[in-house]
Amino acid sequence: MASNSAIESIREKLDIVDVVKDYVPALRRAGRNYKAPCPFHNEKTPSFTVSPDKQIFYCFGCNEGGDVFTFVMKIEGLTFPEAARKLAQKAGLAWEDRHFTGLSAADREILEIKKALAAACEFYKKFLFSSGGEKARLYLGARKINKATVEAFGLGYAPANDNAMTQELLGKGFSKDLLARAGLSGLRDSDGSPYDYFRGRIMFPIRTQTGAVTAFGGRILDSGEPKYLNSPETPVFSKRKTLYGLDRALAGIRKSGRLLLLEGYMDVISAHQHGVDFAVAPLGTALTLEHASFIKRHAKDTIIMFDPDAAGIKASVRAAEIFMEAGLYSRIAELDKGLDPDEYLNENGPEAFAQKIADAADPLDFRMNLFFKNRAAVSSQDKARAIDALLETVSKQGDEILKSEWVKNIAARFEVSEVSVLQQLKKKSGEPGKERKSEEASVPLSMPALELGFIQLLLKNTELTVCAEGLEESDLSHPLTRRIFSEIKNLEPLNRARAAAALIEKLPEEAALIMKLSVADIASDLDPAQNAAKTVKMLKKISHERRRKELNKNYSTLTPSQLEELKQLTELRGKTGE
Ligand code: UTP
Ligand code: MN
Repeated sequence: MASNSAIESIREKLDIVDVVKDYVPALRRAGRNYKAPCPFHNEKTPSFTVSPDKQIFYCFGCNEGGDVFTFVMKIEGLTFPEAARKLAQKAGLAWEDRHFTGLSAADREILEIKKALAAACEFYKKFLFSSGGEKARLYLGARKINKATVEAFGLGYAPANDNAMTQELLGKGFSKDLLARAGLSGLRDSDGSPYDYFRGRIMFPIRTQTGAVTAFGGRILDSGEPKYLNSPETPVFSKRKTLYGLDRALAGIRKSGRLLLLEGYMDVISAHQHGVDFAVAPLGTALTLEHASFIKRHAKDTIIMFDPDAAGIKASVRAAEIFMEAGLYSRIAELDKGLDPDEYLNENGPEAFAQKIADAADPLDFRMNLFFKNRAAVSSQDKARAIDALLETVSKQGDEILKSEWVKNIAARFEVSEVSVLQQLKKKSGEPGKERKSEEASVPLSMPALELGFIQLLLKNTELTVCAEGLEESDLSHPLTRRIFSEIKNLEPLNRARAAAALIEKLPEEAALIMKLSVADIASDLDPAQNAAKTVKMLKKISHERRRKELNKNYSTLTPSQLEELKQLTELRGKTGE
């Protein structure tokens, strides 16, 4: 963690509303809070809320939330120290990395790795435009990539010699171990000497959504294997979470609500050069659920367009199914003449390409088209087998309305009865191991409204904790309200003013709930102090009643002191007139 005072001065100087406005210009006042369409997911009606009183933000739509530091970390994809540096600058405070007195070793390494990757990126760029890069420049020209695109994507070239990049970065003070951890250098088994991981390759920097380099893809220039080499997994790079081109595409995706999923680096680059600015690609892996749930937050209309070969077709169907599992509807686009998106754009231009996107088919139609293509007669056996395979896709559809549409469509297209398709589908869903993932997530036990309201009151007015002096954790019935209550009572005075943000740090799993309670309005005409006093009384009474019932139930086994307790509780009950 950073030294507290440095962080505190940033907090004092900055208003979260001003910071958020820099990124979300549509932020407007709405009562005591500010609202806007959420920058973290795609929506029309604003559920993104910023509370100037609490200095927090929260989105009721996608549950993103936190304080000013979390906001900058999330929207820019930064680590805490990076966000702090940025905010310090905005606050006009001098900031040096030594402010991070106790920065964890892991965080420090991440910062160093990112610096090394940025330096390597510069090195490859420079080399591309040096005399040693001539062949690579000619290659890019032959692939019709123009200079502006080369610059926009930061393409470079890695020299073929053994360790030119490593030497340069060692010269800049990076250690060979760090370069190895960054996936930039390998270390020889024999003597531990470093060599460049990428050699003789066109370099594609892979970036976070805000443009920080986290890895590279390198395409071989001469013949050689593999054609594309990716950085290994590192502390800053996870292939299954990364989408190539996202930094260039995010604005286009947000603006259009559309996302085009392509297969490779060259496809993405070519798409952007032709004005298709909402294209991204996974990195030589199948689409993952992590990708899909990220995409779901940003795009409504997702189009899958892979290479028109057997592998591409299979991967398209699989990707559509992953999107279904994530609860996102996607369409599959098909290119003809065996051209991949890059080749298709170069041969047929952006209009024809746009038409292919517009023609993208529903995933089930796509599979049915595939089946009926080049098939003159269809035997009953073929039909049965095909329907069975199609129902694999149908059973993954979480949307019941779409599901029943699909059953209808299959019946119509194969000229069989709807009932028989439905029966077959039921059989399938009954098979073991077929339960939907999303149903595994357990719904939390519902919390009593009064307890929840009480927590909300405290979150909004921490000074009211004094009203709750007589209330014990055990007076609350739900484990979660108990925990939050206990944390609120134990807040250090310094943290009282920023209770919500401080609690989120303590109870990160409950962040969404805490935030929701802190920014939502309280429906009560009472002033907060009266409201708190009244609520405490009611909670106490309910708690007594709960205890009394429990004791009564076990009457035969009560100890003398428990009998005494029961007697008192019963008297108390009489006094309050119930
Ligand atoms: P393709 O072989 O279809 O590449 O692989 P491409 O984009 O058409 O490449 P060019 O046009 O020949 O330059 C598609 C994607 O699969 C991954 C890469 O991400 C590539 O962009 N891939 C492919 C690898 O990771 N390794 C390989 O050896 C090949
Ligand atoms: Mn290609």
